[in-house]
Amino acid sequence: MLTDKIDELLKEVSALSAKNAEDVEQLRLKYLSKKGEINAIIADFRNVAKEEKRELGIKINELKKAATDKINALREQVETTETASESLDLTRTAYPVDLGTRHPLTLVRNEIIDIFQRMGFTLYNGPEVDDDKHVFTMLNFAADHPARDMQDTFFISQNPNDVTKNVLLRSHTSGDEAHYMETHEPPIRVLCPGRVYRNEAISARAHCFFHQVEGLYVDKGVSFTDLKQVLLTFAREMFGADTKIRLRPSFFPFTEPSAEMDISCSICGGKGCNFCKHTGWVEILGCGMVDPHDLAACNIDPEVYTGYAFGMGVERIANLKYGVNDLRLFSENDTRFLEEFQSAY
Ligand code: DAH
Repeated sequence: MLTDKIDELLKEVSALSAKNAEDVEQLRLKYLSKKGEINAIIADFRNVAKEEKRELGIKINELKKAATDKINALREQVETTETASESLDLTRTAYPVDLGTRHPLTLVRNEIIDIFQRMGFTLYNGPEVDDDKHVFTMLNFAADHPARDMQDTFFISQNPNDVTKNVLLRSHTSGDEAHYMETHEPPIRVLCPGRVYRNEAISARAHCFFHQVEGLYVDKGVSFTDLKQVLLTFAREMFGADTKIRLRPSFFPFTEPSAEMDISCSICGGKGCNFCKHTGWVEILGCGMVDPHDLAACNIDPEVYTGYAFGMGVERIANLKYGVNDLRLFSENDTRFLEEFQSAY
């Protein structure tokens, strides 16, 4: 009987399985093609008595749907397992993560920190968005002093009547001296690395942001001799044991006396080259004895304590150490440049 045959096929169809696309195709041919089982039943259907047609017709449709659904489901199943096994590439390297490199400025900053940490300096990070008070006023920059012009920066808020109320992006890390002295008592021996900002047109030699490392030492009986020896030690550690230093008198509002330090040019060894403008010397930092004004502004008694401070540009040191002659390279994120430092740490 046709009903029995349909029931049998229904059972058969629900139990179908396939391992691959080929199997699925075979099943499709067996059940759903022109010469398949279901079409054979439809052919027989013509000979069925009229009164049975309705019920049988419904059953045949059910069978056809069940077979189509099942075969489609099997097709989907083999397709997903096949693509999953294709994407398992056993020849791939076991280390698929391409490790980056430390940024050259990070390398240089870490080296500076290392050297001073060995001499007992601790670390402090001050804010990049700061107020005029810490960046200038407490450091003895009078409101109308031209030394402010050399550190024009970007302002978060500007008070037209009273510059000391301005909020700004710090133009040097020296502001960290004020932050640290305000909240710590001597003895103080601290290093403050960080990013600073200036309103400069971007060129090979200047940028609107760069990096500095500030050093501060305050205790009883600290003298200029201590400063000189610490800086000489630093220069020799950083640039080699033959490095010479020279201190030239200079002016900074927050140190008295103040100096700029040159090192013998590490590129030509002091003979004279383009980099050192044929002088044999290159400037690397500013320094001096902390002005009594700054100590007093931070409630440290200048009659009891003295101190020295220094500040250096990280880019400048990186230029010297690695012969990079265009500042912009440091912030362009060109991996060809950055990968040059792969073996540097
Ligand atoms: N802050 C100065 C600048 O950015 C550099 C400097 C000079 C820092 C003398 C110091 C210092 O601590 O004593 O130009």
